[in-house]
Amino acid sequence: MKKIEHLGIAVHDLEASNLLFEKLLGVSHYKIEDVASEGVRTSFFAAGPNKIELLEPTSPESPIAKFLEKKGEGIHHVAIAVDDLEAEIARLTKEGFTVLNEKPKKGADNKLVVFLHPKSTNGVLIELCQDATPPIDKWGME
Ligand code: CO
Repeated sequence: MKKIEHLGIAVHDLEASNLLFEKLLGVSHYKIEDVASEGVRTSFFAAGPNKIELLEPTSPESPIAKFLEKKGEGIHHVAIAVDDLEAEIARLTKEGFTVLNEKPKKGADNKLVVFLHPKSTNGVLIELCQDATPPIDKWGME
């Protein structure tokens, strides 16, 4: 585990929250990206060395829509950067954590991601992410 890569915050209205976080952090978001497979639109802020990801659902079936329904807006996940996602999946499975997707999938901001079920991590959804090389937009997927 290298560091906390970003915090993910679920929001109802990305546009309004972008303005709010711009005011809060004093910087503009540096990208907006749809992750169709997850049914979310994301925006990213860099505050010094730290990143915040805002997540707005784009469909009622989105996991973010379900989260908002159940818990309301707030911190949705903590993302941790790793060097070798496959090795971490193997290690954490062996340690008894519940890995939600055994195969890394495309996340936002050029990452491969795997999620750990919150029931095995003190109620916090954990995203493990690894930089995608070559960059995902060069894969010709989707
Ligand atoms: Co994230």
